[in-house]
Amino acid sequence: MSELKNILIAPSVLSSDFGKLNDEIASVEKFVDWIHLDLMDNHFVPNLTFGVPIIKWIKTGLKMDAHLMVEHPEQYLKGLAEVGVYSVTVHVEACPHLHRVVTQIQELGMKAAVALNPGTSVESLNAILPFIDMVLVMSVNPGFGGQKFIGEVVEKIKYIKKNYPDVLVQVDGGVNAETAVVCKEAGADVLVAGSYIFKAEDREAAIASLRG
Ligand code: DX5
Ligand code: ZN
Repeated sequence: MSELKNILIAPSVLSSDFGKLNDEIASVEKFVDWIHLDLMDNHFVPNLTFGVPIIKWIKTGLKMDAHLMVEHPEQYLKGLAEVGVYSVTVHVEACPHLHRVVTQIQELGMKAAVALNPGTSVESLNAILPFIDMVLVMSVNPGFGGQKFIGEVVEKIKYIKKNYPDVLVQVDGGVNAETAVVCKEAGADVLVAGSYIFKAEDREAAIASLRG
């Protein structure tokens, strides 16, 4: 096996107890790199979570990585910048004017990422890849935590790292100690994990197992 780079770990709060969100984030803060925030609007995906009014109350030293599973993501960008979000991911499937949205994110001082559903081909990103900071490869259909990793998406990670080595690749959905190995070997830079970390009895050990 070739030498693997240091991987960034971004726990998704979706599987945490929202009633004590700051305590949940604090419980992993020392062991991880970013905190992943899943915004869902019950339109783009069949589930509803939170938006800027909740993120505003998050107290953390971690970089906040916002994954927008919403229609009209441009409506959220200014608010996300105001509450100190580091990176914003929008779905290619939700953005007819993708270049405009990516430019807006960057002009607001945030990193811009584009997410791909499992059923969307990686080639659909060819035109936007030169402009973006990161790709989020979804390894489940978005909307819920605790789903099974779809192994076929790993080819997308390889394609992006081969053709655009400077663009970060994040993988989200069904990431655990076993699937993390496959993602890392394919070249992933950032692993998102929700249920694997927040449902673990020992969160520190679960995070260490993702780093491998
Ligand atoms: C799913 C979200 C994920 C989710 C992952 O739509 O984007 O971030 O929290 O959960 P797990 O790690 O449990 O698959
Ligand atoms: Zn996510």
